[in-house]
Amino acid sequence: MVIGAAARVAIGGCRKLVSSHTSLLVSSQCRQMSMDAQSVSEKLRSSGLLRTQGLIGGKWIDSYDNKTIKVNNPATGEIIADVACMGTKETNDAIASSYEAFTSWSRLTAGERSKVLRRWYDLLIAHKEELGQLITLEQGKPLKEAIGEVVYGASFIEYYAEEAKRVYGDIIPSNLSDRRLLVLKQPIGVVGAIAPWNFPLAMITRKVGPALASGCTVVVKPSELTPLTALAAAELALQAGVPPGALNVVMGNAPEIGDALLSSRQVRKITFTGSTAVGKKLMAAAAPTVKKVSLELGGNAPSIVFDDADLDVAVKGTLAAKFRNSGQTCVCANRVLVQDGIYDKFAAAFSEAVQKLEVGDGFKEGTTQGPLINDAAVQKVESFIQDAVSKGAKIILGGKRHSLGMTFYEPTVIRDVSDNMLMSKEEIFGPVAPLIRFKTEEDAIRLANDTIAGLAAYIFTNSVQRSWRVFEALEYGLVGVNEGLISTEVAPFGGVKQSGLGREGSKYGMDEYLEIKYVCLGDMNRH
Ligand code: SIN
Repeated sequence: MVIGAAARVAIGGCRKLVSSHTSLLVSSQCRQMSMDAQSVSEKLRSSGLLRTQGLIGGKWIDSYDNKTIKVNNPATGEIIADVACMGTKETNDAIASSYEAFTSWSRLTAGERSKVLRRWYDLLIAHKEELGQLITLEQGKPLKEAIGEVVYGASFIEYYAEEAKRVYGDIIPSNLSDRRLLVLKQPIGVVGAIAPWNFPLAMITRKVGPALASGCTVVVKPSELTPLTALAAAELALQAGVPPGALNVVMGNAPEIGDALLSSRQVRKITFTGSTAVGKKLMAAAAPTVKKVSLELGGNAPSIVFDDADLDVAVKGTLAAKFRNSGQTCVCANRVLVQDGIYDKFAAAFSEAVQKLEVGDGFKEGTTQGPLINDAAVQKVESFIQDAVSKGAKIILGGKRHSLGMTFYEPTVIRDVSDNMLMSKEEIFGPVAPLIRFKTEEDAIRLANDTIAGLAAYIFTNSVQRSWRVFEALEYGLVGVNEGLISTEVAPFGGVKQSGLGREGSKYGMDEYLEIKYVCLGDMNRH
């Protein structure tokens, strides 16, 4: 019900197992596996990191009915592996094992949990090349960017290994002389973590790191499009000493898994990164059992370039904010708002920079932009372009599928975009930069805030006073000033308005997994 209905991506159905789970399949309907991808897959298989079963109670397990789901390489269409397609029963068992493990894991000292997480971090970094290759294989982003994601993803485990030791309570000055008042912070319990395909590792570690550090146990559901990285990371977690049941991974039938997690009384928290539509459904479905929810949902980020901006800084920053991961991040610049006086200069310099992006297979040296995740994503981009052009926008660069075929799309710059066009209102999630003209600072703030979303915003200006005025007025959870890449494990990530609830990363991210308990010690004057 919940996840399948409006998920950001189409979810494939389970198929009967046709071969051993660990075997790589080359389907007759699919193209022959390219040499590069094949040798990478073989190396991964021999390293033990190409896992295809789910992880329940510390054991690698097939789905109970032996159904599987195929994982494709979006750059080639080749099938990388068949993974277990799990559903209600497997999820209920994962929840039960997580519930059981909670007692012992939460009772470890913070220092003991910290050591396990630190070992996991070390292993993730030791295997960053293989994990990066897995990300490129199943998600498509260029290898360098994929290895960057591993380092970014691992940083959450390192950070929370350290933060585990800093979960402080309080002693409150008492209102009565014979009482003492204490505040304890305690782990919330079993967590259901539902992760997207655009960051197959980092969106999982950003949730699992603070959960495990605080003493919670977790059932992770990775995207069916990119489960292999999650499974490899879980294998490394086991090697690091994460005990059986503390971390479980189930994937396959998303609606069944979602329903099982949401309806369980034992699951005390749901954390989700994905579309706003699905987030709303999860929030509603979490209501009957009054679960705590953290939601990191869609954005519609403005990148605001003022007349007084340094042109090079604005071009570089907007390029990074727009084209990271082929435009497939929630914090990607979705609308480039450019002031009248710099509009033409910016359009020319920005288009020149975009033209230099190298589209191709992520394994190819020099590639800076991989494919989109699937054809539905390309069709969405096409429909947004069609809508904008029909309403008067003009394509400066790109605007069509790339000659490489598959789901490759030309990096696109489109000008004269206005606020009645689809791409101004909704997340494009693709490599298209719409340029929107504005006149005054007030116009820019009004346009930027005229959306239901409120995740990230970027501003480019050389005026300190203006930057303060504007970032204070922006209704967004994250603001980059003269900077297009702002995500880091040490800062709070999350949105306002319909972009979500809660924060991930930083000291604030830990609070999402903790309950506050007030203790009143009475009768303290008795001798
Ligand atoms: C996302 O797209 O959801 C996350 C992007 C980031 O962590 O920078």
